[in-house]
This record gives sequence, C-alpha cells and structure tokens, in this order.
Amino acid sequence: MKNILVTGGAGFIGSNFVHLMLERGGFERLINLDALTYAGNLDNLSDIENDPRYTFVKGDIRDAELIASLFVQYEIDTVVNFAAESHVDRSITDPLSFVSTNVVGTQTLLDAAKNHWKVDPTDKYSNQYKPGVKYLQVSTDEVYGALGREGMFRETTPLSPNSPYSASKASADLMVRAYHNTFGLPCNITRCSNNYGPYQFPEKLIPLMINNAKAGKSLPVYGDGMQIRDWLHVKDHCAAIATVLEKGVDGEIYNIGGNNEKANIYIVKLILETLGKGEELITHVKDRPGHDRRYAIDNTKITTQLGWAPAYTFEEGIAETIQWYLSHQEWMDKILSGDYQNYYERMYKNA
Ligand code: NAD
Ligand code: TYD
Repeated sequence: MKNILVTGGAGFIGSNFVHLMLERGGFERLINLDALTYAGNLDNLSDIENDPRYTFVKGDIRDAELIASLFVQYEIDTVVNFAAESHVDRSITDPLSFVSTNVVGTQTLLDAAKNHWKVDPTDKYSNQYKPGVKYLQVSTDEVYGALGREGMFRETTPLSPNSPYSASKASADLMVRAYHNTFGLPCNITRCSNNYGPYQFPEKLIPLMINNAKAGKSLPVYGDGMQIRDWLHVKDHCAAIATVLEKGVDGEIYNIGGNNEKANIYIVKLILETLGKGEELITHVKDRPGHDRRYAIDNTKITTQLGWAPAYTFEEGIAETIQWYLSHQEWMDKILSGDYQNYYERMYKNA
C-alpha cells in the first residue's frame, strides 16, 4: 500500500478513517476525493489538512475523467470507497440520487481500478494485476434486510435489502463481486453495522437525539422505538477496514460488528439520562416506511480469520461520544447554520 484513494473522506466514517490512517502511517500519500455534498464537512479534517501526506480533491466518484487522472497523477494502488448517499430517510424521498452515487459511482471507480491496475489493459482476457493493488468497498449490514428476534447476519446470508438505500448498496456490492469474478479485480467488501462516534452528521439517530435533548427539543422516536441496531464505535470500524486492507483475502466479504444490540428507545433514554433531561421530551412519531426491525452481525469471520476485535465496549464508547458532542458545540452550530459548507471556499480559494 503506497498511495491510497479514500472517497467520501469528509463524511462521518471517512474522516475518522483518514485520521486513523495518518496516525498509523505505512503509506506515502492519502488522497481524499469528496464531492462535499450536504454530508461532507471539511471541518472534520481541519486538524490534519496540512499533513504533507494528505491531499484533498473536491470531486465526484461518477466523474470518470477525474478519477482516471487521479490514478495516473498519484499512482493510486489502493482504493477505499466510503462515498455514498447514506441516509435511509433521504433514500425514501429521492431514490434516484442513491442509485446514481452508490451504484454508478462504485462502477466508475471499479472501472478505473481495472483499467489502471491491469498489467496489460488491452488484453481483455488477462486477469493479471500489478502486485499489491486492492479495491475495498465499504458496505453495510442493511444489504441483508431485517432479522426477527433470532439469528445474525453472516457473510453467506442472502441479500434482501428493503430500503432504496440498502438496495443501492447491495447493487454496488454485486458490481464489486462481478468485477472480481469477471475481471479478477483484487477487492474486498466490508459490511458493517450501525456506527456511532465523533463527526456524525446530526440527521442520524445518536447526534440528532443529543442535539435535541441539549436544546430541550422533542426527540422523534419512530414507531415504538423497539427497533434494534447493532452499534459499533466508528474507530473500531475504521480499524477493521485497515485490517482488511492489510490481511483481507481477495474476493472475500467481511462482516464487521461489535455484538452491541440495543433498541432505539434504550439509546434515547440513555442520552436523556446522561444529559439530565426528562423522558417527557420523547415523542413517538409515525414509523419509517419499510423500517427494518432488527440487525445483528455475526463477526466470527473477521475476528477468527483476520484477528480484528473491537476495542470499545458500548458503555465506554457511548459515554465518550456524548461528551464529544457536548464539547464540540461549535462544530454542531456550524452544521446547523449551514456555515460548514463555506469551509471549502475559505480554505481552498487560492489553491
Ligand atoms: P456520510 O453521509 O457521513 O458521508 C458520505 C461522504 O460521501 C460525504 O463526505 C459526501 O460528501 C461524500 N459523497 C457523497 N456523494 C459523493 C460523490 N458522488 N462523490 C464523492 N463523494 C461523495 O456517510 P457515512 O456514515 O460516513 O458512511 C460512509 C460509508 O459507510 C457509506 O458507504 C455507508 O453506506 C457505509 N456505512 C455506514 C454506516 C453508518 O452507520 N454510518 C454503517 C455501515 C456502512
Ligand atoms: P439511523 O441513524 O438513520 O440509521 P439506520 O436507519 O441506517 O439504521 O437510524 C437508526 C435507528 O433510529 C433506525 O431504527 C431509525 C431510528 N430513528 C428514529 O427513531 N428517529 C430518528 O429521528 C432517526 C434519525 C432515526
């Protein structure tokens, strides 16, 4: 691994991954390609933006010409694709943008990787690639659909996505599979459960509830709040991705999860309790259409075959996360006012 292209590195998980990689080292350059949609926030990276190993490029993963130029200019040998439309509720109102970014964007990246990494790109029957190259697709447990009370998602669980978001992620996974099976592209897919931690956009459950509770606003719980998610600290997710980059067997899928199944209502009440606020702030609102009831990850493959294990317990992680949001009110205010979107202009206008 010499030159890594990280896409979507200004988002929640991507920015945590950029931080982790710069801490760990072991490569020459990390290029962060991000379109800076509403979910991209360069404030997440302000502490590392002058690191000589780091380069930010504003651009779209669907822009084949730009991607090709980055592969050539920076001699990219590793791609980690985080870039995506990621919010289920938005996918219900605008499915097309999810298909466009998540499916077409992934295919555009795969094509670039195939064309630049093949030893002889003119030979369509050769599956010989330069040594050490790797494409890693960051996917989600939501591609497996919903579980009842029992059972867990394994890598062999059939894909059964229910929302336009998860359907677009499953489609992207199938495209990665096809590029491996048809063209021999060295790749991995990781499927992680719900993440929590610093820099998450406050449209998602945990930062939204912390923010509303702090402001004394009502906390909108969908339906009965008994939907279960399997929560993993974002730093544990990023460490798992780094492990797959290092040790993952080409063509393999790895589920990532920390065995922390919690009902939404439990988390909402925990946030209220930590902030010293009363449960009267909870408002049960109309349920999300097609709402998946339960997710749970079986992480046996990655723990036994690659030796990854989560470092955080849920209790430590959630306490630290709540404190992080409380002590980063300025970060939150800039998002709420929309000011974070001017960062690029301010920072890069002369670049
Ligand atoms: P996010 O919405 O916080 O960040 C997405 C980033 O991608 C943003 O910076 C955005 O500007 C960028 N982006 C969007 N469209 C783009 C495009 N066309 N070209 C370039 N950049 C673009 O998302 P996240 O929560 O950090 O999730 C990152 C990845 O991890 C996604 O692929 C998501 O499906 C997956 N995932 C997320 C979770 C979770 O709990 N958040 C769990 C499992 C998997
Ligand atoms: P979310 O953070 O949107 O992640 P995902 O839909 O990918 O799991 O939601 C987590 C859970 O919280 C999900 O069951 C929906 C629920 N939820 C609410 O009850 N109220 C809210 O305002 C939000 C954003 C989510």
